[in-house]
Amino acid sequence: MLNELYPGAREHVYLDVAAVGLVSTRVRDAVATVLDDHVARGIAAGADWTAASERTRGVIAELIGGRATNVAYTQNTSTGIALVANGLDWRHGDNVVVPADEFPSNFYPWLALRRHGVEIREVPMRAGRAELERLAELIDARTRVVAISAVQYTSGHRYDLARIRERCGDALLVVDGTQAAGALVIDADADGIDALVVSAHKWMLGPFGIGFVHFSDRAMERLNPSTTGWLSVEHPFDFDHEPRLASSARRFESGTFNAAGIAGLDAAISIVLELGRHTVENIVLGNAAHLQERLTARGLQVLRSTDPDECSGIVIFTTGDQAADAAIHAQLTESGIRCSLRKAGVRFSPHYYNTDDDLHEAVATIR
Ligand SMILES: Cc1ncc(COP(=O)(O)O)c(C=O)c1O
Repeated sequence: MLNELYPGAREHVYLDVAAVGLVSTRVRDAVATVLDDHVARGIAAGADWTAASERTRGVIAELIGGRATNVAYTQNTSTGIALVANGLDWRHGDNVVVPADEFPSNFYPWLALRRHGVEIREVPMRAGRAELERLAELIDARTRVVAISAVQYTSGHRYDLARIRERCGDALLVVDGTQAAGALVIDADADGIDALVVSAHKWMLGPFGIGFVHFSDRAMERLNPSTTGWLSVEHPFDFDHEPRLASSARRFESGTFNAAGIAGLDAAISIVLELGRHTVENIVLGNAAHLQERLTARGLQVLRSTDPDECSGIVIFTTGDQAADAAIHAQLTESGIRCSLRKAGVRFSPHYYNTDDDLHEAVATIR
């Protein structure tokens, strides 16, 4: 089934999901169906898209262990994080605790709060991960948010979110799940995540420009909707003069939604749910572990934890010399092996559609 769904994975060895995931023909068809409908029926198709987008909230909830009522659609991680950053009533002297090396989408929105007198407390990094003892020390009674990614993009380190939750006290735990969701199992409610923010275009294997946030109930209570539009209300077609905001997380959305993107996201998640969330995680971690073994056997240094609970689908390796790493990356790219070059080394990020042959070929290609 996967072979047919992912023609792109047959054309080249695609090990670059941490940059952008391949989409399946099922995702393409779902997006095309919405557009075909738009071509044929215009506004008449609108009610169907609304109903479908409401159903997709349930599909998202199933994927990430949450509830459909608590899912809000966004454009990407940045806009999702902004819903929290711009939604709290900040007071001078409040603080946000965030690892120093978060991806900018989970960092710049917090820095922007300095204008309200909010202190940004950066958790120092060591060996590709935030030091969790320091994170706990930085949290105090004025900490309103602890923001961290589920998987550290610079190293592939997977954080223990439930353990971090225990240290957050009354602060909201905001998790950038973009390098994890779709590949690794996340249970938003069970792990006590107040805002799980995800973009579809990486491990979710969905389209560009669509994402979501899953809020906890207490986050929904604390946050003011910051992008209120005509679809943020309970009954949009009443066109009320004063908004009566939706009781669900739809109140954090704004106006006309990305119907094609949501259809594509739904199709992408449907494959994970058919395979099984845990099966997908096992395949991804298994592929990454195979790469690690083979790279190590070739004498390359792999920056990956020895603790399987700290591992993700990201495998970064280095020769110890940046120029040599760049040469390997160029050679892999020329040979049709898609991967990325980062400061720490060459980054492989396989997904469930990669075969053992792919992994073998990628490592064998390195000269
Ligand atoms: C951890 C993480 N979050 C988010 C993103 C993407 O951000 P956005 O969805 O705002 O484009 C990336 C992209 O590399 C990332 O690594």
